[in-house]
Amino acid sequence: MKWMLHLCFFLCFVAVFSRSEDVLVAMKARERVLSFLENDAVVSGSPSKPLMVPLTLIQGADSKGAVCLDGTLPGYHVHHGSGSGANSWVIQLEGGGWCNTIRSCVYRKTTRRGSSKFMEKQLPFTGILSNKPEENPDFFSWNRVKLRYCDGASFSGDSQNEDAKLYFRGQRIWLAAMQDLMAKGMQNADQALLSGCSAGGLASILHCDEFQDLFPATTKVKCLSDAGMFLDAADVSGGHTLRSMFAGVVSLQELQKTLPNTCTSQLDPTSCFFPQNLVANIKTPMFLLNAAYDAWQVQASLAPPSADPHGYWNDCKSDHAHCNASQIQFFQDFRNQMLSAVKGFSMSNKNGLFINSCFAHCQSERQDTWFADDSPSIGNQGIAKSVGDWYFDRVAVKAIDCPYPCDSTCHNLVFKDEVVSTITISQSTRLTFTLLNLLSASLMSLTLSNALWDFNYVSDT
Ligand SMILES: *[C@@H]1O[C@H](CO)[C@@H](O)[C@H](O)[C@H]1NC(C)=O
Repeated sequence: MKWMLHLCFFLCFVAVFSRSEDVLVAMKARERVLSFLENDAVVSGSPSKPLMVPLTLIQGADSKGAVCLDGTLPGYHVHHGSGSGANSWVIQLEGGGWCNTIRSCVYRKTTRRGSSKFMEKQLPFTGILSNKPEENPDFFSWNRVKLRYCDGASFSGDSQNEDAKLYFRGQRIWLAAMQDLMAKGMQNADQALLSGCSAGGLASILHCDEFQDLFPATTKVKCLSDAGMFLDAADVSGGHTLRSMFAGVVSLQELQKTLPNTCTSQLDPTSCFFPQNLVANIKTPMFLLNAAYDAWQVQASLAPPSADPHGYWNDCKSDHAHCNASQIQFFQDFRNQMLSAVKGFSMSNKNGLFINSCFAHCQSERQDTWFADDSPSIGNQGIAKSVGDWYFDRVAVKAIDCPYPCDSTCHNLVFKDEVVSTITISQSTRLTFTLLNLLSASLMSLTLSNALWDFNYVSDT
């Protein structure tokens, strides 16, 4: 009898779960709340209205097979430079998690992360993309581009899945966008910076040397990775949540074909999607900007619901001020892994770094963290100044913060319960999510991609 009860329970669950509209409703509800948080950050961080820049679709990209997951044209937002910045270019690769299963990639086709049909028609340019000297002192007059992310694998796949009608063409999108921008004046660049945040920060690591190869040796080319140092670290239950997720992305999109062969000749392809196995071998000068307690990794990779089914970490995860001594110790161990992951990298004079002891994620695109009166700093130097000093070779920047809680300049991300509780998700959907959180293995991926999803809205401004 008992097994019948279990079977019934399971079937009921499958029935609830398969009503995927519920999941979509929940995702959309979260989107509303989190875009509210995002707008809040933009408004409170910028004294004036941010510049809004229209989306440009890359015409003809489809003839090169460079398309989003659903086959639509990829796109970017560009604001042209002027004066002394007219021949300088900063390219920002958009982030937004990854999809690691057919199911999660098919879901993405109905969002701005997988289809240009759903992309915002214009985006605010803040932080490193701002056109105002008082917001972006070193790069405001440059040509500034935000390349939209719609391939699900950090701009690095080159395959497809016929049955699910999924195009995995990140590598081609990257190339088509660069060729298009070259034709629109980037070929005359005397200075260029490839940047990106989160999944885009990983992409700027993966494509840094290819970026430099686009230009003659006389062009000053460097790369910046913001919140791209995703560590192959153990989660709070001793599992490897992020590694399992990356393994799914790598096998689904056949990334072994495009990941740097300096790495794939030595290690398995999943390891070669982790920056710790790549950064020391990049030839182009690179800057790593990362919070030591990266808020996305805390939420989605270290203490996701699948690794903490009883929710013991919930309070600590939503606000670091609620962590107890052993939880803080867990984060200190993570910070130590971060520091050892950048050790070889930091020994090279051409490289720079800024690893602040904050619970943050993506600090170059948000105005309040990039450059404002109370921006995060290490030794009195803020992020915009540090990146500028390194780019223009004014001084070497190898800034590593003292461990938590010594830094009082952080802009930590805090996830407020009262805000989340304003979401109008139906009880049944809540139940679905609770059950989802209890399941691991195949269903975990959706929970995780959902967590990834949340973060984009918190951090992408
Ligand atoms: C801290 O919290 C965790 C999770 O609830 C618990 O397992 C651990 O025993 C606590 N540690 C201390 C030192 O209170």
